[in-house]
Amino acid sequence: MDNTDQYLLNFKGYNFSLPVVDVDFLENLEDFEIRDDDVFIVTYPKSGTIWTQQILSLIYFEGHRSRTEIVKTIDRVPFLEYNIHKMDFLERPSPRLFSTHLPYYLVPKGLKSKKAKIIYIYRNPKDVLTSYFHFSNLMAITPAANNMEEFLGNFLDGKVVGSLWFDHIRNWYKYRHDFNILFMMYEEMKMDLRNSVLKISHFLEKELSEEDMEAVVKQATFTNMKSDPKANYYDVIHNEVGTRRNGHFLRKGVIGDWKNYLTVEQSERFDRVFQRKMKDFPLKFIWDVNKE
Ligand code: A3P
Repeated sequence: MDNTDQYLLNFKGYNFSLPVVDVDFLENLEDFEIRDDDVFIVTYPKSGTIWTQQILSLIYFEGHRSRTEIVKTIDRVPFLEYNIHKMDFLERPSPRLFSTHLPYYLVPKGLKSKKAKIIYIYRNPKDVLTSYFHFSNLMAITPAANNMEEFLGNFLDGKVVGSLWFDHIRNWYKYRHDFNILFMMYEEMKMDLRNSVLKISHFLEKELSEEDMEAVVKQATFTNMKSDPKANYYDVIHNEVGTRRNGHFLRKGVIGDWKNYLTVEQSERFDRVFQRKMKDFPLKFIWDVNKE
């Protein structure tokens, strides 16, 4: 059954989450004023947004690193288009940190001044799909997928929040020269978190002392985030947004979990679409911990 209409809002060709998006805000998004020192995390859903929110919170806020301030990462690095806490973005002190799933063509035009920084996190799309499948079944604001076959169809048709994964990454990459943007890969973060934090902090021109670096890396591991109420969204998803069942936003956090969920046939079908759509795309993906 196609019940996506009650969950998706298509605005200018891109699917937003209907229950949590503010349409008036979208109408004026293009002119949303960007400050030179704003920082944006841009992702397709399920690619490591929450992880990068934690890393940026730890880099920017001493009280987050030392655990002396209890502020959730969703409030440190709120979603631009899903402002669930109705924050007054104009009143936020600089530097403002934001997260967004927006496609390149819908972002505020001030981002093209190339001063504000963007970190684009990407992940191999079979793991994105697998993570998204579980997320859809967990959350009350997304249509439950009866099985992987059904979800795979929706994902490959772009009938999900975020629309087509292929378009999102291809276009952000294609138009990268219009922005001040750093591309980071989830799998590289997983395999070498320290070096990834170093790259991010360097891009942000926020050099960290050895001691601070240790604190960031330690608190950005999957295990530590999963047990940290500031970082794991537990309260946000269960008590504010709403879930269908018990479960965790931080589910497994591994590379290659798709192999546990896709049949050989489904995987080959995905490969065929991938090869067609990502032909000539220069970024490499890591599909498995042992292979590239
Ligand atoms: P899984 O469902 O595969 O576990 P997003 O925040 O963009 O929605 O992405 C969520 C995915 O990132 C989930 O993937 C989640 O577990 C994973 N993730 C979050 N924090 C992580 C961390 N510190 N290390 C590895 N993966 C992490």
